[in-house]
Amino acid sequence: MLEPDRILRLEDDAVVLLDQRLLPQQEVDVRCGTAAEVAEAIKSMVVRGAPAIGVAAAYGIALAAERRDDLAAADAVLRASRPTAVNLAWALDEMRDDPSPEHARRIHADEVRRCREMAAHTADLLQAGTRALTHCNAGGLATGGYGSAVGALLTAWERGLLEHVWVDETRPLLQGARLTAWELETAGVPHAVIADSAAASLMAAGDVDCVITGADRIAANGDAANKIGTYSLAVLARHHGLPLYVVAPSSTVDLATPDGAGIPIEERDGAEITTRFAARNPAFDVTPADLIAAIVTEHGVHRAPYVDSLAGAVTA
Ligand code: MRU
Repeated sequence: MLEPDRILRLEDDAVVLLDQRLLPQQEVDVRCGTAAEVAEAIKSMVVRGAPAIGVAAAYGIALAAERRDDLAAADAVLRASRPTAVNLAWALDEMRDDPSPEHARRIHADEVRRCREMAAHTADLLQAGTRALTHCNAGGLATGGYGSAVGALLTAWERGLLEHVWVDETRPLLQGARLTAWELETAGVPHAVIADSAAASLMAAGDVDCVITGADRIAANGDAANKIGTYSLAVLARHHGLPLYVVAPSSTVDLATPDGAGIPIEERDGAEITTRFAARNPAFDVTPADLIAAIVTEHGVHRAPYVDSLAGAVTA
């Protein structure tokens, strides 16, 4: 398992990010010397995953403070880098009163601690012999260490509850086929990468027991934005009578957004899909709360009605 400071860290003169675009073939660090460079790295997905981009933004602010740069400008450029994951704005809000390196490092350590707590709560929901399906990468790379959905799978594996993981390849950027598969391989967890479109037939064949994903923003009513394709999995899971568990820290819960209609969905360059034809590339979709069996945060397992059960899940 990758150590948190191998994934991202703050040094005296730079925020250092493991370039997730090149994994698993190459392990290359990108050094960002300014907040604007951190913002560019978030935009271009050197670092990605909701909690990880929040931590990167916190480090970007701490770097700007150390350099005595304009903090309002640093905040603005970081805040504008990616729209969907609320962890980014959450971490920047957290850094407002105390932009110190110690505070940014504490935010990072807290995210990893939350992952371990969520993982334990999620594993409590699973039976022995579980064959889980996951989408995108909600592993240590996405959270700054350990992982949310993948962290839950690791804990279930350690407890002897997990038999196998189906890893959606996650078109178009292959976070599943490159990053989740790599993390599971490193941890020795049995897994197989599948084409995203194979999920339905595996469910129909009785080869899937549950779907476990992360989230980028969870509205007050429990509607959850996550990597494009999660909504289709939720519909499939409902059709086949399988539970969908969404595992995310309180920094992903956005009580100020009443429901999924208010979640901004990032549209990325169509060239990520094809350079030959016109393309449309929404990077996230929203799964309606009624398709989610449970949302798991560090505080425990939240069930519908989420508007009540999530209200206590947000850190002050
Ligand atoms: O575009 P990405 O790779 O940043 O999207 C990431 C996801 O959708 C993850 O599932 C989500 O951030 C949860 S990460 C713990």
